[in-house]
Amino acid sequence: GAPVEINISKVEPGQLLRVIWRGKPVWVVNRTDEMLANLPGNDANLRDPSSEVVGQQPAYAQNAHRSINPKYLVLVGICTHLGCSPTYRPEVAPEDLGAEWKGGWYCPCHGSRFDLAGRVYKNVPAATNLVVPPYYFKDDSTLLVG
Ligand code: FES
Repeated sequence: GAPVEINISKVEPGQLLRVIWRGKPVWVVNRTDEMLANLPGNDANLRDPSSEVVGQQPAYAQNAHRSINPKYLVLVGICTHLGCSPTYRPEVAPEDLGAEWKGGWYCPCHGSRFDLAGRVYKNVPAATNLVVPPYYFKDDSTLLVG
């Protein structure tokens, strides 16, 4: 099918935009400077911090922020355990997720956790990072998924 065109100019810092691509939910997050600053330094808690598992992201997203433009994260919004829809939890250290939590996604089905690059935590049922779909920027405010 044709790529899905997304206007990202209205996505506020910290906000998640949800679109549908090939029947799947896709998220676009405008990550704040604070969110980006929190990405490094948590590797010991992650299963695949360097995104080494092939097929979970295109080559251009196999980097520390798992994206083309560090600010914009693009993910398929499906838990890599059994396909539930993880909940966006951008806040740092909320009471229920603990002091080491720096924001990300929490899957309500079996408790898998992912950081703000979609990287899976250790000791959760999901084995792999959230999938980054193929995408590109047509211009500064237009992103195409597919
Ligand atoms: Fe997400 Fe099982 S489907 S933890």
